[in-house]
Amino acid sequence: MAADVAVLRHLRGIFQYSDPRLGVKLGPSLEPALNLRLGVNIDHVATLRQARGGHEPEPVAAALLAQSAGADGITVHLRGDRRHIQDRDLRVLKEVLAIPLNVECAATTEAMEVIIPCKPSWVTLVPENREELTTQGGLDAVFLQGMLKPVVRELRSAGIHVSLFVDPVLDQVKMAAKLEADAVELNTGAYSDLPMDSDPSFELARLRDAARLASRLGLRVLAGHGLNLQNVGPVAGIPEIEELNIGHSLIGRAVLVGLAGSVTEMLTAMRGARS
Ligand code: PXP
Repeated sequence: MAADVAVLRHLRGIFQYSDPRLGVKLGPSLEPALNLRLGVNIDHVATLRQARGGHEPEPVAAALLAQSAGADGITVHLRGDRRHIQDRDLRVLKEVLAIPLNVECAATTEAMEVIIPCKPSWVTLVPENREELTTQGGLDAVFLQGMLKPVVRELRSAGIHVSLFVDPVLDQVKMAAKLEADAVELNTGAYSDLPMDSDPSFELARLRDAARLASRLGLRVLAGHGLNLQNVGPVAGIPEIEELNIGHSLIGRAVLVGLAGSVTEMLTAMRGARS
């Protein structure tokens, strides 16, 4: 999709102005490789774009910057209401990314019809309801097993790896294995939502036990929801977890660490016009 004019225009803008002093690090990371991958969720770049209904900020450009900074994968949630990521984003991301694309979605026929032809590396099945601000809780794989079974099978037979986003509950993990998912993504929401001064040991024990069981059952183990710089450490320390999916805190922080550079660029452009 080299002809995607919006992407090209936006990338040209970023690379024209990018300067090491602005904190934009391009090129592969020089840090030693971690055995814990980072999947960067770029939904909220699209949220900002949709607020104006135009082309900016371009989520594909954000994905490429995350890739350049060392992200191991890009995650997007194609919601039924299309409140942020659009069908076109999937197609362009699949075209330009060198790292795996993971698409979160509800297990609906409508989502499958859009996603399967696009062939992302992974699909993560999540619960979805229209009123929620973000994904609320994990998928009840035990209750929904009859509905999930053909969807998991359809995705896997299309060559797409399947992950189920579940709460850290042993029966849910067992059901993911029974449904022949490739992975579980453990919902860290209950841990992340704990008040700052409360004891996290109960929620961490649930995550640890679920991760251990999933790994023993041959599932790959991912985790995410609500993770940020302050709370990521204990989850990153669980050895069975291979990948963390993080979105809101990364994009929120990018706005703050990037704003000074953005203001500098604008002042430079304004000065240029008067010189
Ligand atoms: N994992 C899943 C399944 C999600 O639905 C989300 C939110 O879209 C995330 C991870 C990332 O959560 P957050 O944006 O809170 O980092």
